[in-house]
Amino acid sequence: MLSIIVPTYREADNILPLVTRIRAVLERRGDYEIVFVDDNSADGTEAKVDELQRAGVPVRIIVRRNERGLSTAILRGFREARGDLLLCMDADMSHPPEAIPGMLDTLARENADLVVGSRYVPGGSIEEGWGFYRWLNSQVALWLARPLSRVRDSGAGFFLLPQRLFAQATDLNPIGYKMLLEVSVKCRCRKVIEVPIQFADRKFGQSKLSFREQLLYLLHLKRLYDYKFGFWSRLVQFCMIEGSGVVVNLLALQGLQAGGLSFALADGLAVGLAMAWSFWPNHLLAFDPLVRAPVGAQYGRFMLAGFIGGMANWLLAVGLTHGTTWFAGHTNLAAVAGIALGAVINFARSSRRGARRPVGEQV
Ligand code: GDD
Ligand code: MN
Repeated sequence: MLSIIVPTYREADNILPLVTRIRAVLERRGDYEIVFVDDNSADGTEAKVDELQRAGVPVRIIVRRNERGLSTAILRGFREARGDLLLCMDADMSHPPEAIPGMLDTLARENADLVVGSRYVPGGSIEEGWGFYRWLNSQVALWLARPLSRVRDSGAGFFLLPQRLFAQATDLNPIGYKMLLEVSVKCRCRKVIEVPIQFADRKFGQSKLSFREQLLYLLHLKRLYDYKFGFWSRLVQFCMIEGSGVVVNLLALQGLQAGGLSFALADGLAVGLAMAWSFWPNHLLAFDPLVRAPVGAQYGRFMLAGFIGGMANWLLAVGLTHGTTWFAGHTNLAAVAGIALGAVINFARSSRRGARRPVGEQV
């Protein structure tokens, strides 16, 4: 049996036309059910589904009263589905129901693990209404996900997979919009096939893809990178942050020395400044809109935690310039040596902390 999961938030006007189109294409294709997962839209969606159900149409609705979110809604639908095949699609008819039989045939014929209704394979397209901004946005989003997934249209919301593959996935913990990305990284799907679809503009209601969703996407990406690449992902993030700190540190050192400060004093201040700076990129990467802790307290903890690394940095730089004649003539290199020592100490500390955390939990 096929279970079609349709997440909805304020899509009352789309229920009937969507169900009508699905029925028309699945009429002669055996058993199926349509499962709406609605986040308490309170716009008449429930009543519409109930009415269809009374008329004998295989539909039902799950209403979540205390939760919002596209991916978690899909997850809930997948978990409660009765079919051995799971398909998910948008309610607004952007995903043409007429493509479903082709997706089912492809899955069966190719014995595939995952079939995606894709905009970005030959034959796929997007209706004209997409402005340059939405197109660019979509391209950048896909490009950022490239190392994570082989799916060309990893942002798609139209895909089909056998229930047994979904059941094998561990640690599913999606946030935001991109359930397919989560599934393709964590479901161990070996054979993935993309079939072209014509992505249509919605006719009724409004898109819920907000700026907040885009921030959530970045957070989701970070989680998946950490999940897939573990140590290496943390190392790259650490190097990016540390790299920016090195620039701040060296610039400040030059400036302060040019202003007449001694090396020891200038380097001490520069190290402190670089630490104060690194808080922000760190904060950004660990950014979690779901956690609201006061920034001031986080700042304090961050500076305290970095104190040992910063101290080691400064002591080594000053020790080298005072203890050796060579470094006395190459003070910048002494500063760099200090920075390197501080970085190693900080990384060891932060990766120990990272490794202790269960996968998916936030920094
Ligand atoms: N239950 C629930 N909860 N459903 C939601 C929520 C939510 O918080 N937010 C959105 N939905 C439902 C909508 O009602 C619709 O059926 C579907 O999810 C897609 O939402 P849209 O608001 O229409 O999103 P979109 O058109 O901007 O995004 C679609 O295209 C993107 C590709 O550009 C989705 O398919 C995305 O997954 C896809 O990445
Ligand atoms: Mn849409």
